[in-house]
Parts: sequence; C-alpha cells; structure tokens
Amino acid sequence: MNLSTTIAGVKFPSCFMNASGALCMTREELLALGRSRAGAIVTKSMTVEPRSGNPEPRYYGFPGGSINSMGLPNLGYLAYAELIPELKQFGKPVIASIAGLCEDDFLTMARVINQANPDLIEVNLSCPNIPGKPQIAYDPVDSERLLKRVRPLIKVPMGVKLPPYFDPAHHAVMAEVIGRCGVDYLNLINSVGNGLVIDPKRETPVIKPKGGFGGLGGSLIKPVALANVRAFWKLLAGRIPIIGTGGVVQGIDAFEHVLCGASAVQVGTVLVEEGVGVFERMERELEAELSSRGGRLVEDYRGRLKEL
Ligand code: SIN
Repeated sequence: MNLSTTIAGVKFPSCFMNASGALCMTREELLALGRSRAGAIVTKSMTVEPRSGNPEPRYYGFPGGSINSMGLPNLGYLAYAELIPELKQFGKPVIASIAGLCEDDFLTMARVINQANPDLIEVNLSCPNIPGKPQIAYDPVDSERLLKRVRPLIKVPMGVKLPPYFDPAHHAVMAEVIGRCGVDYLNLINSVGNGLVIDPKRETPVIKPKGGFGGLGGSLIKPVALANVRAFWKLLAGRIPIIGTGGVVQGIDAFEHVLCGASAVQVGTVLVEEGVGVFERMERELEAELSSRGGRLVEDYRGRLKEL
C-alpha cells in the first residue's frame, strides 16, 4: 500500500501530517514530528515577534471536538528560520506557516523564511484568535492584495490556509482570488472561528480569551471541512491541490477528505490528544479502508465523490 502523495511537485512520504498549531511550536515538538510517521513537519504559524499567546485556559477538549484560542504562541520567525535546516534532515517536507499581525509582517517573514528554504511556505490568512484582528481571508480584497505582494518573495511552492466559508457565493469569490494569485496549494480549513463552549455547572465559558470565543476543531467540524474541500476542488477544477484539515480523527475521515478532493490531510485535535503515535494508527486505518475497496493509492480516489 502506498499512502504517499505529491503537492505542488513536492513528494510527501505519507498523506498524514500535523495541522499547524498541534504539537509543533517548540524545537522538541518539531523534532518529534520529524521522528514520527507524519508525512511532513508543519510549523506553528509564526509571527515576527515571539509570542506567549493568549491567557490560559485557552484550549479545551470535549467529546466530539475542541475549542482553542491560543493566540499564536510561537518562537518568532527568526527562530524557525534557524530550525528549518535541522528539520529538513528528516527527509520529509517542511512546511513553514506564516501569520502576520499586519500585511507587512507577511512580507518580512516571507523574505527570510524563503531563504531558509523550507519545502513549502503556507500563508495563514485565517487565525480567528487575535483580539481586534479579523480573519484576513474573510475580506477578499485584502486577501488578494496581500497574496499578490507576498507571492514574488516566495520561491518555493506557496500555500494558503483559509477559514471555513458557509455560502457558495463566498466560495466562488475566494476561488477566483486564489486563481489570480499564483497559489500552489490550499489548506482547508482552519478552525471554525468564534464558537462558544460553556460549562453549565460553573456557568462559565471553558476558555478565558475573548470572553470564551474560540476556534472549534475535531469531529464536529468535519462536515464543514469536507464541504469547503469539495467546493474549492470543484470551483478550481482540481487544478490546485488541497490539504484537507478538519475532523480527521480516523482513517475513514481521511478517505472522505480524499473523495472530496484532498491530496493530503492534517490532524489537529486528535494529535493533541493522542500524541505523534496517531499517524501510525491513521495509516493503518486508511490502508484498511483502501484495500477493502480494492485500491492501492490515495490518488485513485481523489475527488471521486459520487454525487447523487
Ligand atoms: C492560534 O494560535 O490561536 C491558532 C492559530 C490559527 O488558528 O491559525
């Protein structure tokens, strides 16, 4: 069985990898991903300055999902630029995720991170957790201007991580933006922003930042993630590879993402819960899924959802 995949010309030994944010902030966490069965090492979304992030508690897992408002805790882009050569020694792709707090931050980071030569750079336009900063990708005009400015600075394949959209008109507008900006792959979706989970016993939210509002992840967001993968896959006619993120808890979830059009999948909530051993389990489960259908390659099923 072969679970390898190719995205924007870069070969991944496995189609499973960590979602940015899950166990990928420190050097130790990134090295553990390198040693694991993950098909890539994805960094925490970095900012220009190191950040300690939002006040705790800022992550809460519950049956069916999680809510977080981490607030981009990270080491700062210069630290990740230094780490990238070490991470590349594991012989699997390194994806550097950048998340500016303003447009110029993206340019500052893109210049330096590009020189560190990760295999791909992912422009995160969708963090929902910075108080006072809207998710950039909910504004197509701002997104297009930013992507057109950053694109010439990035010489490796450039991906974009988008938030979920909930209306076909918004899928269509953003697909047009993506088509005009030289984007090499999409990562769909970031957490479903600004949910609210409450502890009725204590009569409080379960996390502290932003009055308890945070990004939802895990099983409960799978239908939203699948819909976004499918919508962009169809609008872009399969021309731009997609990493499916959201609700990947078992091998069958990965298979569903692939049917919708994903070339690879990322694991967030369940990686935080289970640790890096999750990748081996997912591989086994997806292999069983494919062989029960007589298939051998992820590619054989990509986009092949049979609509009724
Ligand atoms: C966070 O650090 O708050 C999450 C990052 C993201 O959703 O992009």
